[in-house]
Amino acid sequence: MNLLRVEGMTKRFGGLVAVNDVSFSVDEGEVVGLIGPNGAGKTTVFNLITGNYIPDQGQVLFDGASIKGLRTHKIVDAGIARTFQTIRLFQKMSVLENVLAGQHCRMTTGIFGAFLQSPKARAEEQAALDLALEELEFVGLRHEANNLASNLSYGNQRLLEIARALATKPRLLILDEPAGGMNHQETDALLELIRKLRDRGITVFLIEHDMSLVMQACDKLVVLEYGCKIAEGDPESVKNNPKVIEAYLGPDDDEE
Ligand SMILES: Nc1ncnc2c1ncn2[C@@H]1O[C@H](COP(=O)(O)OP(=O)(O)O)[C@@H](O)[C@H]1O
Ligand SMILES: [Mg+2]
Repeated sequence: MNLLRVEGMTKRFGGLVAVNDVSFSVDEGEVVGLIGPNGAGKTTVFNLITGNYIPDQGQVLFDGASIKGLRTHKIVDAGIARTFQTIRLFQKMSVLENVLAGQHCRMTTGIFGAFLQSPKARAEEQAALDLALEELEFVGLRHEANNLASNLSYGNQRLLEIARALATKPRLLILDEPAGGMNHQETDALLELIRKLRDRGITVFLIEHDMSLVMQACDKLVVLEYGCKIAEGDPESVKNNPKVIEAYLGPDDDEE
């Protein structure tokens, strides 16, 4: 079943067509990679799905319903969480506080409930805390809960962003270059984590330049070049697709 379906999506910035009539789908339970050269429009596609940008044309369907034009927090409520290409953490807050901050949109009691310390507010706070610690455990950062985010290694900051996203209980997790800045060991651990996410039934849609990670982690790849989709399919067929090879290696000039 299609969990996410993008149809004929176009986004222009002035005269630049950053995303050009792109269609693809992500099935429930899959790990799908979005790849392509720098500037191909990958992050823009993510921003169009998560409500950071509104498409000029096209549709975004999540679980069969249109989410086009919804505010970002409504899209989180619908079950889509993300991380960013450039890490966005509260550096001066603790690791745990960073995860709790991500959950705030999910709480129903609001500021007055919290202020009055109503039983419902207290129960909600406890549940948020339990969930935050659970997700920190899941990404392997439980022991860093009280450390400042700024004290974490770059790789661990990326994991913290994943924990924060998970604490919103997404069905679809969108990761923009999760291995960016990671060393080999951290990238191997990330691959394990992506597999654990799939085992949990969370659908993963990721942008990544590390081809070894992409080939091992993904069930399917979507390839963009200059805003257009040039290929979609299983990693092996995409890897051998002449258009994809040309996009990555440049035109073949052997014949000249
Ligand atoms: N907010 C924006 N305003 C103007 N141009 C943008 C904006 N965001 C992205 N672009 C342009 O759109 C193109 C695609 O960018 P992006 O989606 O970030 O590519 P990728 O993630 O594949 O490297 C680039 O040419 C980029 O400069
Ligand atoms: Mg990008």
